[in-house]
Parts: sequence; structure tokens; C-alpha cells
Amino acid sequence: MRGGKKKKPGTPATAILAGAGLRGAEVYGAYALAHPDRLKFIAVADPDSYRRKLFQKEHGIPDDKAFLSWQDLLSREGEPLADIAFICTQDAMHYEPAMTALRGGYNLLLEKPISPDITECKNLAGYPQKETQVVQVGHVLRYTPFWRKVKELVDSGAIGQVVHYEQSENISTWHYGHSYVRGHYSNADESSPLILAKTCHDLDLMFWIIGERAQSVESSGNLLYYREENAPEGAPRRCTDGCPAGESCPWFSPRLYLRGEPLLRTVKHSRSKILNLMIGASFSSPGFFRGLGKIIPPLKALSDWQMFPSNTISADHSEEGRMKALKEGPYGRCIYRCGNDVVDHQVVTCRYPSGITGTLTVHGFSDFEGREIRIFGTKGTIRGFFRLYGEELTITDHRYLNSRVVYRKGVQMDGHGGGDFAMLDAVTAVLLGEKTPEEGGISGLSEALESHFMAFAAEEARKKGEVLSLTPFRE
Ligand SMILES: NC(=O)c1ccc[n+]([C@@H]2O[C@H](COP(=O)([O-])OP(=O)(O)OC[C@H]3O[C@@H](n4cnc5c(N)ncnc54)[C@H](O)[C@@H]3O)[C@@H](O)[C@H]2O)c1
Repeated sequence: MRGGKKKKPGTPATAILAGAGLRGAEVYGAYALAHPDRLKFIAVADPDSYRRKLFQKEHGIPDDKAFLSWQDLLSREGEPLADIAFICTQDAMHYEPAMTALRGGYNLLLEKPISPDITECKNLAGYPQKETQVVQVGHVLRYTPFWRKVKELVDSGAIGQVVHYEQSENISTWHYGHSYVRGHYSNADESSPLILAKTCHDLDLMFWIIGERAQSVESSGNLLYYREENAPEGAPRRCTDGCPAGESCPWFSPRLYLRGEPLLRTVKHSRSKILNLMIGASFSSPGFFRGLGKIIPPLKALSDWQMFPSNTISADHSEEGRMKALKEGPYGRCIYRCGNDVVDHQVVTCRYPSGITGTLTVHGFSDFEGREIRIFGTKGTIRGFFRLYGEELTITDHRYLNSRVVYRKGVQMDGHGGGDFAMLDAVTAVLLGEKTPEEGGISGLSEALESHFMAFAAEEARKKGEVLSLTPFRE
């Protein structure tokens, strides 16, 4: 049986972390703190001393196990320091640490994308792993109850044979502006093109749910709007320099990063009437909610938002710290003047050997944050939405045209619809010898590679304006 050796009950799997940022510290680190019987970080590397020291403190890591860079952590002779290495550095810095960890005999949790370079992806997938080595790529959506239900419905034949599959990734305007205009993923050469950075998740789901490798792809899309020529008249280079369009601009940075207002307005679409009322009231009486937040801490978020994306712009999360970041750092720049080059909308059409067709749309102009799906079969249709403020799946039987809700979930702030922690439950179950990789649903590098081939092919197809076969990308 592949997987970890059975440990004594209560003995956690041990882990090392390269990159104590948002994913490494605030998702995987948070899991270890919440489940000390399943996962324990024993070493960390990050050149950012604030992040490294904070992670050390939270996880009780001594100074001799805290490093300035992944090289110092991973390029050591001898036995692996721990059961698993988490590689959570930025996209262009995945390959070398991941390869070094594999060579060092570590099990691996590698953040997506595997790499922005196709050869590096193939090299990693082709590395002759030890029989017992387990590798998981951060395709967390496969682990959510919503997408598992979609897969179960399709596999059960509930809609007959799939004929056409349609998925959209609707990135809300505030999130697109944060990540793909002002942030890490705004420049394709420095990070990855949007179709890989954001929608490798969706391409992975399409592959997993349809259960077939695509034969060819075509794609169109461009950077239509987030460009200098669309800046309002008189807009300065920074929002904080007295922008005349501030009040009417959806991307006005103080409103997003100090108050989280666009995010709260999204949550306001939820079915929870009480939550909606409170959010509405917090907009009209921010001072009152500021006071209330001092007595009831969870309400603090309604007047002083310190969660994503505000927590990414500065190590100092105080209002002063965040304001300083807006005045000096990348997240305070006018949304129209960031030198970004990734597309803001793109459509990919896939053809499958069995004759099925599939489309994927991604864009940065959504009022809500989340994915939508429609799967048309010979006997029925599945429709669903997977959003920050709720999830729902319905199935319609074509014979009777009756639709019924088969899955529903209200507003929830669990990372990626619960997928972040569910993936770690699966990975640790394998490391602890509770499950085999197959039982845990660990898909491995070669399975994850397919979504990357689709993304590389789609990007090239978009640039060339041609229909491209997937075969040369796989060879
Ligand atoms: N699975 C998902 O759904 C998901 C979601 C968001 C991001 N991601 C991916 O996760 C990765 C990390 O994203 P993030 O948001 O945590 O980024 P981040 O920028 O917050 O964290 C990256 C960290 O790596 C550190 N670092 C830089 N150089 C280093 C080095 N030489 N050695 C060790 N650490 C180094 C940085 O200081 C930073 O703290 C990215 O590849 C991103 O695409 C995945």
C-alpha cells in the first residue's frame, strides 16, 4: 500500500514550509494549528523576516529550523527533515524547490500552477518518484462537496451522456483588480497567464468531471478595459492623491483595503437576512459599528476589514499600516495605470474525442465572486453556482422538465468552499497511513498536468487565433 506508515494515534505528520505567505501561513499553517493531531510544521523558509518570525512563533519553530530561503531549507544532505514539504512560493518559483524536495525524498504539496513553463511541468511529472512518495498539487476544488456532487451526478448517468459542458469563472471586479491588475498575477511573464494562474482549477475540474482528455482547443480574449486610456479625467497615479473619481470608482483602494466594502457588498447578496441587515447598517453608520466591534470583536470586520485582500498589502495590518501601503505600495495605484498585461476576459472552447464539447469563460467584470456551471446531457441538465455567498446545484429531467435542488449551501467563508481544509484532510490521511492515495483522492502530478496542457494550448491558441491540437503539448 502506498502512503505513509501508520503513526500512533495523535502523532501528526511533520511538515516543512517554503513560503510563509497567504497560502503557506494562512491556509496550510492555519490547518496545522486547528488540527495539531494531524499536521505539525517543524521548519520554515521565507526571506520576509516578519512572515518567517510570525510563522515560527505560531508553530513553535526554533531559530535553527528557520531559513531565509528555500535553498537553505531543502538543499541539505541526509534524511528529509519531515514527512512532507509544502511549496508555497510564487508561481515562477515552484519548479526548483519542488524538484529539490522530490529529489530529497519528501512527499510534496505543491501549490498550483505546477510551473508557468511547460517543460518544467513535464520534468516534475516525469521525475522518478519513490514508490511511496505522494505528491498533491493545490487543486483544492476537487475536494469541495459542491464539485464532488457534480462529479457524482455526471458519473451516475443522472443526465444521460454529457453532450456539452459549460463553466464560467466570474472574478469579481475588486478581486480581479487586486490580483490581476495591481497584484502578483498582473504580468504573464513574471507569473503566469490568467488562463493558467486562475483557471487551471477550472480546466482541472473539466478534465476530472468529463473524464476525457480534450483533443483540441481554440480561444479568444484580450485586455479590453484595465488600461491607461480608460483612466477618468484628472485621476492621479494613486487613489490616495485626491482622485476626483474616487467615490464613483469601483476600485478605489481605501474603500477596498480599509473597509472591505466591495467584499461586504458581495456577501450582502447572501440569503442571511440578519447578516444583510447588519452589513447595510454598517455602511450607513460606520462609526457605530466601529464602537460595536470593540465590544463584539467579530463585528469589527464590518467597519475595519483586515481579512483578504487587506491582509496581503502590508505586514502591518493596522489601519495606519495599510494606509501607508496604499500611499507607497502597488495596491494603492490607479487601477488604469498598473502596467498589467494579462487578459481581462477569455473564452476557451474544447473538443473531445467522443464528440463532447466544452467551454470555459473567465473574466474580471463580475458583480459576484464565483463559478457557474451548466452541463447538458442526453436526458437532463445540471445547473449550478459556486459563489462566495452561496452554492446551489439543480438537476432537470428532460422527460418531465422537473427541476430539483440536489445541493445547497448558504454563505460561508471557508477557503475555496471548504476545499482548502478538505484537501489537507485527504493529504494527511495518506501521510498518517489512514488511507491509500487512491482512497484519499490524491491525483498526483501527471493527473494535474492535463489542466496545465489545456492552459498552455489555450494561451497559444488565443495568441495565434488558431484551433490547436493538444497532442504536441503532451508529447
Ligand atoms: N490553490 C489555490 O487555490 C491557490 C490560491 C491562491 C494562490 N495560490 C498559489 O500559491 C502560491 C503562493 O501564493 P500566496 O498568495 O501565498 O503568495 P505570497 O506572496 O503571499 O507568499 C509567497 C511567499 O514566498 C516567499 N518567498 C519568496 N522568495 C522565497 C524564497 N527564496 N524561499 C522561500 N520563500 C520565499 C515570499 O516572501 C512570500 O512570503 C502561488 O503560486 C499562487 O498561485 C494557490
